[in-house]
Amino acid sequence: MQANGTEKRFLKALAGRKVDRAPFWYMRQAGRYLAEYRAVREQAGGFLDLCYTPEFAIEVTLQPIRRYRMDAAILFADILVVPDALGQPVAYKEGEGPVLEPVRTADAVKDLNTSNVVGHLAPVFETLRGLRRELPEDVALIGFAGAPWTVATYMVEGGGSPDHALTKRWALGGEPGFDTLIDVLVDSTVAYLKAQIDAGAETVQLFDTWSGALPESGFDRWCIEPTRRIVDAVKQAHPETPVIGFPRGAGAKYVDYVKQTGVDGVSIDSSVSPAWAAANLQPLCTVQGNLDPQFLVIGGDAMLSEAQRILSTLGNGPHIFNLGHGIVPQTPPEHVAALSELIHAGTADD
Ligand code: CP3
Repeated sequence: MQANGTEKRFLKALAGRKVDRAPFWYMRQAGRYLAEYRAVREQAGGFLDLCYTPEFAIEVTLQPIRRYRMDAAILFADILVVPDALGQPVAYKEGEGPVLEPVRTADAVKDLNTSNVVGHLAPVFETLRGLRRELPEDVALIGFAGAPWTVATYMVEGGGSPDHALTKRWALGGEPGFDTLIDVLVDSTVAYLKAQIDAGAETVQLFDTWSGALPESGFDRWCIEPTRRIVDAVKQAHPETPVIGFPRGAGAKYVDYVKQTGVDGVSIDSSVSPAWAAANLQPLCTVQGNLDPQFLVIGGDAMLSEAQRILSTLGNGPHIFNLGHGIVPQTPPEHVAALSELIHAGTADD
């Protein structure tokens, strides 16, 4: 049906064009809720070995596409490969999440190694090239990176944290070094995303998972501004490649975020009212979202009617159906199948 890349349903919707039904994919569509993921994960050894071995990363990227035939595949990697590439090694501990040796001073920022980010991440580009060969021709390929603020929270806290207190004090209190850390992350992320697009990514998404932790002045400076710089630089090199932003928890600030960063699409979290997004965001760009991932654990009519409500409220477009955050490991795969069938049923030719 779709002969060339520009006709992919996902890319059409991202460009703001009319589509026969909402395209869809799910954040964290590859992962532990799938038995076949757990099998490859075990074979790979560590989580980073999985990210850095193209054969395994290609396989786990394709697994959900085989089952559910989403309109887009997202590169399998992690936002924390960037600190890893900067010489701040990341370990993923079972049940604990990522652990890093914290960067908390201007001197520690100076010690980061900015000289080999793209070289260190070469296996990721190999994965993207392999995916372009193997993906069905109507499935788009999404690259991604963490936004500087969110990646910085992990670098400064040394892992996940409930309140990002140390990062916020450094960012908002004006002690030297934090602006340099953000500059390093902007430059590294630009280089990383440009290389992803060179290797075949057809769009890139910036995950700002913790942007909602920032007060207004901090949001402008540490979320909007670095994102705007990344979008500008990526578009200078690749003017045709759309960029999607996900400032999770941004609330009413989603509007400023879209206007000031220049993103082509915005992913909304589940706390955003679809009707509000239809009125305030869809006139500005494509909206992606926003089923609460817990509905995928619940399943049944509760899940399907909530999804239907989102599809109809955002249905005038441009809309890409997604979740408001990632699939959780407790999700029964058959619920993902039922949701995907509902969306596929939006058109006769699937
Ligand atoms: O399918 C996909 O969405 C692509 C792959 C992907 C992963 N992480 C794989 C992963 C993507 C896009 C991410 C993004 C990511 N990573 C974010 C932003 C999105 C979000 O969820 O907020 C963040 C904050 C991270 C950092 C991260 N990675 C954490 C906090 C954890 C531990 C928590 C957890 O879920 O285990 C990870 C590990 C991780 N990244 C896993 C996967 C599949 C689980 C690792 C495992 O197999 O044990």
